[in-house]
Amino acid sequence: MRLPDPALVVLVGASGAGKSTWAQQHYRAEEVVSSDGLRGVVGSGPYDLDASADAFTLLDTIVAARLGRGLTTVVDTLGLDAERRRAWRAAARAAGLPAVAVLVATEAAECRRRNAARDRPVPAPALTAQLGKVREVGHELGVEGWDLVVPVADTTAPPPATPAPSPVPRADRTSSLGLRTVLQVSRFPWGDDPLAWLGGVARAADEAGFAGLALMDHLIQIPQVGRAWEPIPEPWVTLGALSGLGTGLELGTLCTPVTFRPAGVTAKAAATLSALTGGRAFVGIGAGWWEREHAAYGLPFPTAKERLDELERAIVTMRALWAKGTKAYDGDGVVLPETTGYPRPAGPVAVVVGGSGERRTLRIAARLGDACNLRTGEAEVVRHKVGVLHEHCAAVGRDPAEVAVTVLDLPVVGRDRDDVWRRVERHRGRTAAPAYAARTHAGTVADHRDRWAALAGEGVSTVFLATRDLDGPDDVLALAGLNA
Ligand code: CTP
Ligand code: MG
Repeated sequence: MRLPDPALVVLVGASGAGKSTWAQQHYRAEEVVSSDGLRGVVGSGPYDLDASADAFTLLDTIVAARLGRGLTTVVDTLGLDAERRRAWRAAARAAGLPAVAVLVATEAAECRRRNAARDRPVPAPALTAQLGKVREVGHELGVEGWDLVVPVADTTAPPPATPAPSPVPRADRTSSLGLRTVLQVSRFPWGDDPLAWLGGVARAADEAGFAGLALMDHLIQIPQVGRAWEPIPEPWVTLGALSGLGTGLELGTLCTPVTFRPAGVTAKAAATLSALTGGRAFVGIGAGWWEREHAAYGLPFPTAKERLDELERAIVTMRALWAKGTKAYDGDGVVLPETTGYPRPAGPVAVVVGGSGERRTLRIAARLGDACNLRTGEAEVVRHKVGVLHEHCAAVGRDPAEVAVTVLDLPVVGRDRDDVWRRVERHRGRTAAPAYAARTHAGTVADHRDRWAALAGEGVSTVFLATRDLDGPDDVLALAGLNA
């Protein structure tokens, strides 16, 4: 079970119940505020009961300060004082955070055994009194106004391990969640050996069970990802290099703007890539959005309407050139005197229409795409957009089953809670950490699997995954659990 996060988490349990151990297993050290710890800060040590008043004054200050910033705070005390619990709940309410009580109701005998084994055991009568009080408080918690009361059983069981990465990709590269994951590479910190870096990343993606690898198609690195002087290679050339590695990855762009190349030239590039990979090419295609790169490279940047019109014509043109034969094409505003295109694609080239625009882009996806690509990781957003997509399908007479739902997810993924937080701190800029963490769904592989299960439930078949932290093969291998 996953607790709300960020949240106030108040532990309740007798000495030796395992409160501090549980907190340590589930939270970062900085998130846990402990009365014992603070006795050690303002007193002679954790057992300096004379320092209790000062320790609790500090504790309340810290709790209020952290909650006020929207930061998860775990209160590690006995938790047996109703008035203190009420005050902490009020602080959570004031901060707009959920208040969770965690009842660590370990068997009395086990508490006694652990207590006895300690350096400075609590006197037996005191422990007995605590155990009685814990039973009472256990009944009160349900009516005190907590958002959630979580009983934690004896925590002697080992902490749950993160799912083991699948050592060998499944044949269909579909995870047990029913999802395929395509790694979108958007940053290229390749040092002085670009090809070695690219090869390392692609082989790692193959090994980690990704279904494919997608490259951004931009002429200048976009500010959302990096600095303008950082390398952003031409994707079709780069995909050509990746096609020679012998991986089983599907290869393509996400997304090629229709403004960069005439559609026929994109069709040619994709057909060539399909031939080189034995049919594992796809084309993500969109209307383009970044005026600056067009101006810099001398490309026209027409109005949104014209670009969307072109998006339609581009898909029609590509399909005409990929189709069997060489006959003339005339339809959908596209007139081609012949459609001579060799090499032919070695398999179907999936056209993934990028963008969530409800009036036109999703209509284009419904009419002409093999898939739409929604830039979101939120199940509710997906539900709404899929509703719109399916309305368009009905309007144009397309079977919705023919239009796959894919998303572009840009999460922060960490190896554990500490690592997640380090990454959030590294990238958040001036955004407050809790807001950045929420926006990027910052979490471990296990957290993201929960979220992706909800996406799968909304009909998503493929997640294009882009993480800001992708520095090399090790970062890719660390994502393997997402594909298990
Ligand atoms: N312990 C254990 N197995 C667990 C949990 C705890 O063996 N599953 C041990 C710890 O290593 C420690 C003792 O039991 O030596 C007490 O655990 P702790 O988490 O410190 O208990 P607390 O509830 O925090 O006790 P206190 O109120 O005294 O801080
Ligand atoms: Mg403790």
